Amino acid sequence: MNLYIDYTTEIAADMEQTIKNELVQNLELNKNRNGVLIMFLSTSNLTKSYNTGIITHVLKGVGLEMKRGEIGVILGPSGSGKSTLMNIIGGVDRADGGTVEVDGNRITDLNNSQLVEYRRESVGFIFQFYNLVPNLTVAENIEVVSNISKKPLKTDEMLSAVGLYDKKNRFPRELSGGEQQRVSIARAIVKNPKLLLCDEPTGALDLETSRGVLSLLQKVNEQFGTTILMITHNSAIAGMAQVVFRMRSGEVAEVAHNSEIIPAERIEW
Ligand SMILES: Nc1ncnc2c1ncn2[C@@H]1O[C@H](COP(=O)(O)OP(=O)(O)OP(=O)(O)O)[C@@H](O)[C@H]1O
Ligand SMILES: [Mg+2]
Repeated sequence: MNLYIDYTTEIAADMEQTIKNELVQNLELNKNRNGVLIMFLSTSNLTKSYNTGIITHVLKGVGLEMKRGEIGVILGPSGSGKSTLMNIIGGVDRADGGTVEVDGNRITDLNNSQLVEYRRESVGFIFQFYNLVPNLTVAENIEVVSNISKKPLKTDEMLSAVGLYDKKNRFPRELSGGEQQRVSIARAIVKNPKLLLCDEPTGALDLETSRGVLSLLQKVNEQFGTTILMITHNSAIAGMAQVVFRMRSGEVAEVAHNSEIIPAERIEW
C-alpha cells in the first residue's frame, strides 16, 4: 500500500514538474526582453465606418487583448461587427482608426505588400462555407497554400491530422460538409500560422460534426500553440475558450475569462 502511494506521488511530482516547465515556457514567450508581460494580440480603439449613402459606424472603438496560445471566442448578434473586426485583425480589411498588434508587430502600420506577407505567413483563416477550390483535389487545395509558405508543414501529415489522408485525391464536392471543413482546417494550419481566425467554423454543421471540428481546433491549439480567435453565434462554444468577448453594436460590451476549459467533445447545445 505504501509503495503504491510512493509510486503515484513520484509520478504526480514528475507530471507536476513537466506541467510547470511548460507553463514557464509559455509565460516566457509572453514576456518582452525586460520581462514585462506582453499581449500576443491587442487591438485598441479600432473604428470602421461604411458609407452606402448613409454612414454606418460598424466598429466604434474596439479594444481586446489575448495572450499567446489562448483560444478566444467572439459572440454577438448579427451585424454587431464581428466579421469586420476579424477581417481587420487578419489584414484583409483596413480600419479607419485605432491599432492592431500581433506578436509585437503593428499590423495597422503595414503597407499593402507587408500586409500580404503578414496574411501569408502569420494568419490562417477558416470560414463557415469552407472556400475550397472546387476543381482541385483535397491534397491540391492544401498545397496551394503550402507552396507559397516559407516553412510549411507536410501536406500528408496535415491530412492525417484531420483524418482525411485516405481521401486526399477526392474533390471537395465528393466530401461531406464536416470533411470539407476539416480540409479547410488542414489548409489553414499547413503554413503553421501564429494566429488562426475562424468565422463561424461550425455554422453549417450539425452538432456531432461541429464537435469533431471544434475538437480538432482545440488539438491544433494544444499541439502547435496556435492562438485561435473564433466567431460563433453559439454561446455553448464559449466554454472551450479562455477568453470570451461579447460584441454589441460595434463595441466589445463584455469580456469574460473562463477558469475551466471544457473539452469540445463535451460541449452540449
Ligand atoms: N462592405 C460593406 N459595405 C457596407 N456595409 C457593410 C460592409 N461590410 C459590412 N457592412 C455592415 O457592417 C455591419 C457589421 O457587419 P459584420 O459582417 O461585421 O457583422 P457580423 O457581426 O459579422 O454579423 P453576422 O453575425 O451576421 O455575420 C453590418 O451592418 C453590415 O451591413
Ligand atoms: Mg459575420
